[in-house]
Amino acid sequence: MPTDPLRLSGNGIDIELPVMEGSVGPKVVDIRKFYAETGMFTFDPGFTATASCESQITYIDGDLGELQYRGFPIEQLAEHSDFMEVCYILLFGELPNTAEKEKFLSDITNHTMVHEQLHRFFSGFRRDAHPMAIMVGVVGALAAFYHDSTDINDPHQRMVASYRLIAKIPTIASMAYKYSVGQPFVYPDNSLSYAGNFLKMMFSVPATPYIVNPTLERAMDLIFILHADHEQNASTSTVRLAGSSGANPFACIAAGIACLWGPAHGGANEACLNMLEEIATVDRIPEFVARAKDKADPFRLMGFGHRVYKNFDPRATVMRDTAHEVLEELGVDDPLFDVAMELEKIALEDPYFVEKKLYPNVDFYSGIILRAMGFPTSMFTVLFAVARTSGWVSQWKEMVEDPRQKIGRPRQLFTGTPKRDFVQMADR
Ligand code: SDX
Repeated sequence: MPTDPLRLSGNGIDIELPVMEGSVGPKVVDIRKFYAETGMFTFDPGFTATASCESQITYIDGDLGELQYRGFPIEQLAEHSDFMEVCYILLFGELPNTAEKEKFLSDITNHTMVHEQLHRFFSGFRRDAHPMAIMVGVVGALAAFYHDSTDINDPHQRMVASYRLIAKIPTIASMAYKYSVGQPFVYPDNSLSYAGNFLKMMFSVPATPYIVNPTLERAMDLIFILHADHEQNASTSTVRLAGSSGANPFACIAAGIACLWGPAHGGANEACLNMLEEIATVDRIPEFVARAKDKADPFRLMGFGHRVYKNFDPRATVMRDTAHEVLEELGVDDPLFDVAMELEKIALEDPYFVEKKLYPNVDFYSGIILRAMGFPTSMFTVLFAVARTSGWVSQWKEMVEDPRQKIGRPRQLFTGTPKRDFVQMADR
């Protein structure tokens, strides 16, 4: 919605820039004509103050520590909803009625198997390959299997590709784990919930029956809900940028997985648990907090800080409560949880963290829960990718359906060598 324009003058220019207002959140200055009218680019490495698109999916208020999917607060979805319903909300924008929810669940459930030939991709990996490397490769390979759902201009094919990705990502994730431990792949069980089926594909073996633990099933479903979408984060922006060229949707999601893997982003849950293990005991926390504050030391407290949240990450709060429940249910007395609780307390009192508004983020407690549930640390980011696939496909679909969508092509501030002539070898 346009509001009063912004006048910009100085450096030889005097222009008015349109200002647009969303339904909530900061207004935006429309700079689409800025270069044509001024001959200048704007400069914002890391896009700290740049809106890359218009979206109606997820809203974050970093100062208040609020997160909403299609307007529904994450706390309410965590308490009252389930991951399949959240996938529906992210894709379609509204809560499903009973029939719509049953149809969606059936559509996803009946797409959980992967092409049998996909199994062969795994044997090309070393057994000790990081499962995120396997996810990038195998999800990218889906681009070669589904030629009937890659015309992104066909709404039906867009939907089929989205459903296939949501349905198959847990199957591929569990296969990456099974391959790493030398156990046989477990086929999906369509009688189970999305979370229950994933736990069974991960932890069951042919030799013994597997009963899904309802507490772990609920915790898994909750972790998927909390990680489903998060506005225009690095991996979502990667999916949007890849998709803006019209690329194959499966390849776009593989690009998102690659970006999520970084320790500054989704890889932080694995890095955070490794950090807690390195700290090991409460009495060593001050040493690590000092390192995190030391400009000369590249070490950062994994699981703390966020580009947007300058308050508690609301997902971390829910995750902390879930950690208590899971550890109690499993009768696990994990000293790392005590270290995490004490680290949170110390960091939140330390002036450095208070001044820089560095709070625990979604990755801080997830590692504790996942470790208690039996997931190896190397699988933590894979689980993040399983959940975030629902957000990625929803954002990708919104981008493709946006009539103003153009290929993403940022510019630069060039500080290299200006034009010069080539010098022959004899003259150098
Ligand atoms: C996710 O974008 C999303 O929405 C991501 C995500 C999602 O759902 O998609 O929420 C998931 O990626 C959560 C973040 C997980 N990453 C980590 O926990 C890694 C540790 N955190 C940092 O790497 C950092 O906080 C970032 C990357 C998360 C945010 O970095 P920014 O916004 O680029 O901020 P910055 O690096 O410029 O830091 C600002 C200041 C700096 O000090 P000064 O240069 O101003 O003196 O805060 C300091 C930083 O040195 N700082 C930290 C710190 N994080 C920032 N110091 C110590 N420990 C930290 N963790």
